[in-house]
Amino acid sequence: MTTNRIAFQSSIAAGDKLPGSAKEIAESLKALPEPHRCPWWVHYLLVSPLRRLTESPEKLVGPFVEPGMTVLDPGCGFGFFTLPLARMVGAQGKVLAVDVEPRVVERMHRRARKAGLAERIDGRTCQLRDLNLAEYEGRVDLVSVIHTLHEFEDLVGFFAQVALLLKPTGRLLVIEPNGHVTTEQFTAELSWCRLAGFRELNAPDLGRKRLAALFAPPVVSS
Ligand SMILES: C[S@@+](CC[C@H](N)C(=O)[O-])C[C@H]1O[C@@H](n2cnc3c(N)ncnc32)[C@H](O)[C@@H]1O
Repeated sequence: MTTNRIAFQSSIAAGDKLPGSAKEIAESLKALPEPHRCPWWVHYLLVSPLRRLTESPEKLVGPFVEPGMTVLDPGCGFGFFTLPLARMVGAQGKVLAVDVEPRVVERMHRRARKAGLAERIDGRTCQLRDLNLAEYEGRVDLVSVIHTLHEFEDLVGFFAQVALLLKPTGRLLVIEPNGHVTTEQFTAELSWCRLAGFRELNAPDLGRKRLAALFAPPVVSS
C-alpha cells in the first residue's frame, strides 16, 4: 500500500529533480495511498512491561529532556513514552501527547491518571493532517517522534507544523524501528525533513535496532 509514497519519497532522497512545480508536487502527494497504520489494540502489547527490557524511554529520550521542558509526543499510543516523559519534565514541564486514534488517547489518559501524571500531560486526539496544537506555536522544546513517522501520510504538513511549534532552540528527535522501517525509507523520511528546512545535527547512537536522527528547526528570517 505504501509503495508509491515510498518510491516518490525515495526518488527525492536519491537527489532526483523535484517532479515539477510546487503545485504538481502537492498534487502528487495527494494522490499517494495511505500508509499502513497499526491496529489500535496492538498498543496493549506496546505497553507491556517486557518492552522495557529492550526499550528504555529514559535511555532513548532522556538525554534530550530537562525538567521544565515542553515536549511533544506525536503518535503517543497508550503512552509508552508519554508517561516517562512526564516524569522527566517534572511538575513544571508539560508533555503534549497527540494521536489520531481516540481510543488510544483515552487509554493514555487513564494510564496517566493512574500514575498521578495527568496534570503534566495535555493529551489530544488530532487529525491526520492537523496536530491540533496551534496554541503551542513557538513554545515546544523537543518533538520526539518515536516509531511513528512511517505511519504519517503527510510528512510535508507534519514537518511544517513541527517547525512552527518548536522554539528556535528546540530539537526534533526522530526514532524509527530498524527493519520494520528500511534504511531507504528512513533516508526518504529525512529528506522531507531537510526539504522543510530542518538542519541535521549529530545523530544519537541508539544501537542496531533503531534508526535515529536529530534536527534543529529551520532558521526563521525576520
Ligand atoms: C506504531 S504506533 C507508536 C506508538 C508509540 N509512539 C510507541 O512507541 O509506543 C504509531 C502511532 O501513531 C499514530 N498515528 C498515525 N498517523 C498519525 C497522524 N497523522 N497523527 C498522529 N498520530 C498518528 C497511530 O494511531 C499510532 O498510535
